[in-house]
Amino acid sequence: MALNHPSFGTIDDNRVIVFDTTLRDGEQSPGFSMNLEEKLRMADALAELGIDVMEAGFPIASQGDFESVRSIAERFAKDGPVVCGLSRSAPGDILRAAEAVKPAARQRIHTFLSTSDLHMRVKLRMSRDEVLEAIQKSVELARNHVADVEWSAEDGSRTDPDFLCRCVETAIKAGATTINIPDTVGYAVPEDLARIFRMLRERVPGADGVIFSAHNHDDLGLAVANTLASLHAGARQIEATINGIGERAGNASLEEVAMALRTRQDVIPYSTGIITQNILKTSRLLATITGFDVQPNKAIVGRNAFAHESGIHQDGVLKDKTTYEIMTPESVGWATNSLVLGKHSGRAAFRDKLATLGYTLGDNQLNDAFKRFKDLADRKKSVYDEDIVALVDDEVVRI
Ligand code: KIV
Ligand code: ZN
Repeated sequence: MALNHPSFGTIDDNRVIVFDTTLRDGEQSPGFSMNLEEKLRMADALAELGIDVMEAGFPIASQGDFESVRSIAERFAKDGPVVCGLSRSAPGDILRAAEAVKPAARQRIHTFLSTSDLHMRVKLRMSRDEVLEAIQKSVELARNHVADVEWSAEDGSRTDPDFLCRCVETAIKAGATTINIPDTVGYAVPEDLARIFRMLRERVPGADGVIFSAHNHDDLGLAVANTLASLHAGARQIEATINGIGERAGNASLEEVAMALRTRQDVIPYSTGIITQNILKTSRLLATITGFDVQPNKAIVGRNAFAHESGIHQDGVLKDKTTYEIMTPESVGWATNSLVLGKHSGRAAFRDKLATLGYTLGDNQLNDAFKRFKDLADRKKSVYDEDIVALVDDEVVRI
């Protein structure tokens, strides 16, 4: 059943809202803080990427955070993504967030409170009843300022199920339009989140009038898998960051979730507004701004994501790319795939490389050169084009 949302109007059942938190949860990773100018550049890139909601910061955290959220809101005063500010449940936090997002054409306040027994006892020192009251008051206050309010149950995945249902019911009655269940410490496995979202949708009155949201951390390397399981169980907003940056091991990687959805429509038939061709440049911009490159084997955006070194794979890809590529490099912004020559490479890739360098070899010449290339590749980690040219230059005919 299509849902009516204050920021998006009618939303189809299979449309997934992409909530980017690179500038908030992502920025919370040690060493990843950004200045105002850098945040504005990232904000523009994220808007071009086609995200739906931009969590621009935590306005009460510092004057600098307030100003960045405010400036991003001014940037999107006419159109662009919904601009969101985070706040705890304290009135001062909510008012600061409301003031920061005010200039945006579409504004959201995201307010959260811990709901697990552990957090309530140790961190908040609040009883269950006090937490329920704080949820009601904070959401109502936020709703007095904006129509689009997200409420999060911090440590939701470790919360007693019956109490979680009561918290969510309270937030919905108070006017929340999105309900987020974070796996704050990256403890859950996909089955846990599927069970939680199904339970909430079945048991909580008013659940069919809100969007459920998944926010997963990667402490066990399961953030993306948990996000996809949440979608299967009815969540329709995903919270993620570019390159998966975020607290500790990070958040779900936006590019991985977006490409999993695009590549596996057969089993996850949901759509997003992400313009996937812009993924690589957005990832590179973040790496340049923060000074942290992604690891070479990072899915989608790592240097090796579309590189083939083994002879068997290179031969397959030269015959038909789909033998070893499940998506095209162009679909995420790479110019092409690459066949990297090394000790695992085969004759087919070696011949192909020679042709691109402008050399044509007879069979015997190719055999000799290939043997010399293998000897060299055993000695050197990387074989560059100049090495190949030096290997064959004397004895071949240039095209
Ligand atoms: O991980 C978390 O619980 C959060 C909340 C503030 C939403 O980031
Ligand atoms: Zn988080």
